[in-house]
Amino acid sequence: MEIESAGDDAFDDDFDEMEGYADTGPGVTRRVVTAAENRHASRGWWDADADNYQAEHGGFLGEADFVWCPEGLREADAKLLGDVAGRRVLELGCGAAASARWLAGQGAHVVAMDLSAGMLRHARDAAKATGIEVPLVQADAAALPFAGAAFDIVCTAFGAVPFVEDSALVMREVHRVLKPGGRWVFSVTHPMRWIFLDDPTEGGLHAVHSYFDRRPYVEYDETGAATYVEHHRTMGDRLRELVGAGFTLVDLIEPEWPEGHEQIWGQWSPLRGRLFPGTAVFVSEKAAVLR
Ligand SMILES: C[S@@+](CC[C@H](N)C(=O)[O-])C[C@H]1O[C@@H](n2cnc3c(N)ncnc32)[C@H](O)[C@@H]1O
Repeated sequence: MEIESAGDDAFDDDFDEMEGYADTGPGVTRRVVTAAENRHASRGWWDADADNYQAEHGGFLGEADFVWCPEGLREADAKLLGDVAGRRVLELGCGAAASARWLAGQGAHVVAMDLSAGMLRHARDAAKATGIEVPLVQADAAALPFAGAAFDIVCTAFGAVPFVEDSALVMREVHRVLKPGGRWVFSVTHPMRWIFLDDPTEGGLHAVHSYFDRRPYVEYDETGAATYVEHHRTMGDRLRELVGAGFTLVDLIEPEWPEGHEQIWGQWSPLRGRLFPGTAVFVSEKAAVLR
């Protein structure tokens, strides 16, 4: 749930020079990446960052809890997935799979999936610690290794969707593996956040980037190879990708920052959260009868 950036200063400095590939690095830029380069960067990044991510956010996420976003919206309260008992549920980009374990506790038949072996290692450790076992699969959300109509519900909290080059393909893959009438719910960074620096303080209150710049945020190493990639889509892009895959948008949640919640998560802070949304949760459904 975080743009783990090399620092906004570095990004700021580089931003004026973002006319294609950076020649020397490491650094930060906005440029097009191929799907293969993106996948390679994501696997490497999340494997390397897994321990750090869990150390920093594991306490907030819980061992068996479903938290949609840094604003702290919980599935137990929001009920965006509907009744999950007895349902077959796939969690994409599960990380340490706390959400999958919570779903299992509600009686769902869950499969948790992630691209990163490092993140799945934490999921295995947490299964041992909690005694809640869910099947874990290592795969790319852009090529789901499941049969068509295998699941009633697919969900993710900030997993996979912002980290793939072709998120429209992920929408089509999710549509394929869902049964008719199935539900697809995912949270991402709110699109409007992309116009600001990744700064939880006053520095993050000034618009500096174009909302319409779809080039991904890329961190790169000394050879120029991408090491971290995160993608921006406008609200309209997200809606078109969902509808294009065959989904109907049921709801769009923009969680408000709750009173008394003071915990900062990367660029998400009470200061910014009180002024504008930090997360968008898309709730969609596949038609019950295929047209
Ligand atoms: C910000 S973390 C979110 C993890 C978890 N859902 C949570 O709430 O903490 C993003 C996750 O997406 C996973 N991911 C990135 N690209 C992916 C892909 N192409 N397919 C599946 N998972 C991916 C990462 O490995 C990482 O575990």
